[in-house]
Amino acid sequence: MTSPLFRTKKVEQSIRDTEEPEHSLKKSLSALDLTVFGVGVIIGTGIFVLTGTVAKDNAGPATALAFVVAGVVCALAALCYAEFASTVPVAGSAYTFSYASLGELPAWIIGWDLVLEFALGTAVVAVGWSGYIQSLMDNAGWQMPAVLGSREGSDVFGFDILAAVLVLVLTGVLVLGMKLSARVTSVVVAIKVTVVLVVIIAGAFFITADNYDPFIPKSEPVPAGDSLASPLIQLMFGWAPANFGVMGIFTAASVVFFAFIGFDIVATAAEETKNPQRDMPRGILGSLFICTVLYVLVSLVVTGMQHYTELSVDAPLADAFKATGHPWYAGFISFGAAVGLTTVCMILLLGQTRVFFAMSRDGLLPRFFSRVHPRFRTPHRPTILLGVAIAILAGFTPLNELAALVNIGTLFAFVIVAISVIILRRTRPDLPRAFRTPWVPVLPIVSVAASLWLMLNLPAETWLRFGVWMAIGVVVYFLYSRNHSRLARGEAEPGAPVGRSGPDSR
Ligand code: ALA
Repeated sequence: MTSPLFRTKKVEQSIRDTEEPEHSLKKSLSALDLTVFGVGVIIGTGIFVLTGTVAKDNAGPATALAFVVAGVVCALAALCYAEFASTVPVAGSAYTFSYASLGELPAWIIGWDLVLEFALGTAVVAVGWSGYIQSLMDNAGWQMPAVLGSREGSDVFGFDILAAVLVLVLTGVLVLGMKLSARVTSVVVAIKVTVVLVVIIAGAFFITADNYDPFIPKSEPVPAGDSLASPLIQLMFGWAPANFGVMGIFTAASVVFFAFIGFDIVATAAEETKNPQRDMPRGILGSLFICTVLYVLVSLVVTGMQHYTELSVDAPLADAFKATGHPWYAGFISFGAAVGLTTVCMILLLGQTRVFFAMSRDGLLPRFFSRVHPRFRTPHRPTILLGVAIAILAGFTPLNELAALVNIGTLFAFVIVAISVIILRRTRPDLPRAFRTPWVPVLPIVSVAASLWLMLNLPAETWLRFGVWMAIGVVVYFLYSRNHSRLARGEAEPGAPVGRSGPDSR
């Protein structure tokens, strides 16, 4: 590939870039920090909110199987992510990995895609957080004015002020520094995991076996309506739109996939990790495994406590306890969920700013954004810019369709990462790999197929929105990034010394 669109950035060069003092982040994280960081972002709106929705609409008690399916898709991707993260330990995740293997245009596309994933993901979780806070306020007899409350199911114009304020406060915390964020994260993760364990252990005593019958509800036709809301696969093959049944499990899996988003963000912190070669794979796989087990248990308990047709879609975990006559647990769970969603939101925001930072450092976005703060050593400019944009987004948008868009973007990133593993093994077999994906190329190919399968189970309208976002990205690339790229300007030709003295390093 000799076209400039496929120029690649050398892995050694990516690592050297991180050593430029003006553009370097502090290396302070260990494997344990990474696992806590991973669990901190992975457990969130997915398990606390979407479990009820998919059990009710798509899969019934078989939601537990949907979590298994989504978990397997993520584990396959994680094995590919782990090899890349341990080989290319610099900020930027799939973006950096694909710059080192596929080339600049694919890297740009993936970076643009990750911006979508993290920005919308942050907004989704902030809105979920606001819902839980409002539910707690209701318990205390307070009500938000409708115009400042949740946008879910609301037809009136309004702005979700709590969601927006959360994003702004977290932006401030991130600007002050990674270490503070990691410390706050560990306390909050402990609360969140405690809440999940309480749901599992206490809830197990309130299970009624009849609720598991049928475990996989029979397939039901969906009333005719907006066909764009049907999974793309049903439209492609002309299947009558239906819910439940075996296909319902896959539809559910494509939605609850949101619950796993975050392990890939652990990879975005590679540059801030003390020993990325060893600790990255441990952090990624460890946090993914813990979460999968917890999700399967939570969904089994909740669908066992309440018949799936009666589950709440706003706060299903807490409401299942109310329905079985245990409101005290419900209050505790709501409180823990609200606290837990705070870290999810913060880490998504962090991942987002790090991708933006890496793209800016490579010149694909204005380099103004990659100057770190002289005192806090954080990329304060993209953090503030994106934080404000996401706060506005979170204030105005409801969450369901955004979650689907986040999922499609993330699955697309998985596809690219898996392909990159195969390519980089061929083009750079010499690179030391602290972690090697097993059974290459078979495992990455299976990972690509599995991710594509979940993508096809998302609504056709989600594909359309994703297509529009990516088309905008390609236009920006050709109008700006192609000419401003450090590689294009000869500052960092593959193999050339990276210039602190280069014209743009001022
Ligand atoms: N996995 C995260 C959540 O479920 C993004 O909220």
